[in-house]
Amino acid sequence: MKQKFIFVFILLTMLLMVNAIPYQLHKRAIDFGPCPDPPIPLLTVSLSSDTIEPGKTVTITISGKLAEEVPAVPESTLVQVAFTYADGTIIPNSFFSKDLCTRIKCPISAGTTFSIVENVPVPAELPLFKIMVGINDTEEFKFLGCASTGNLS
Ligand SMILES: *[C@@H]1O[C@H](CO)[C@@H](O)[C@H](O)[C@H]1NC(C)=O
Repeated sequence: MKQKFIFVFILLTMLLMVNAIPYQLHKRAIDFGPCPDPPIPLLTVSLSSDTIEPGKTVTITISGKLAEEVPAVPESTLVQVAFTYADGTIIPNSFFSKDLCTRIKCPISAGTTFSIVENVPVPAELPLFKIMVGINDTEEFKFLGCASTGNLS
C-alpha cells in the first residue's frame, strides 16, 4: 500500500515537471546582447514586461558605463530606441530619440555607471522584430553604448 502511494507520487511529480517545461520556454525573458559590429560597449537593458503589446508603451531601463565622457552639450548625445524588422531596418515611426542630458545630469564621466528609465511607444503593428537601444554621439557619428535583442515575435 505504501509502495503504491510512492509510485503515484512519483508519477504525479513527473507529470508536473513535464508540464512545466514548455511553460518556462514560452515565458523566457527578453534578453539584450551586443549590437552587431563594430564592437560597442554593451548597455544593460531591461523591460518592464516580457510581453510587448503593439500600440502600448514599454518601460525600458537602460544602464551602463561608457568608455567616453558625455559632455554637458545639448543634443550632443542621444538615447535612442528603435524597433526594427528582422533584417535591421527600422519599422516606420518607431524611432525614439531623446537628448540624454535632459534625462540625467551631464557631464557623465567616462567609466561612471548611469541609469535612465524611458517609456517608449511600441509600434501598432509588430511582425517579427528586434529592439535596439543605443547611446548616440551625434558629434562623432557613433554609438557610445549599444544593446540589441534577437528576433522577437
Ligand atoms: C545617431 O542619430 C542620428 C540622428 O537621429 C542618426 O541620423 C544617426 O544615424 C545615428 N547614428 C547611429 C550610429 O545610429
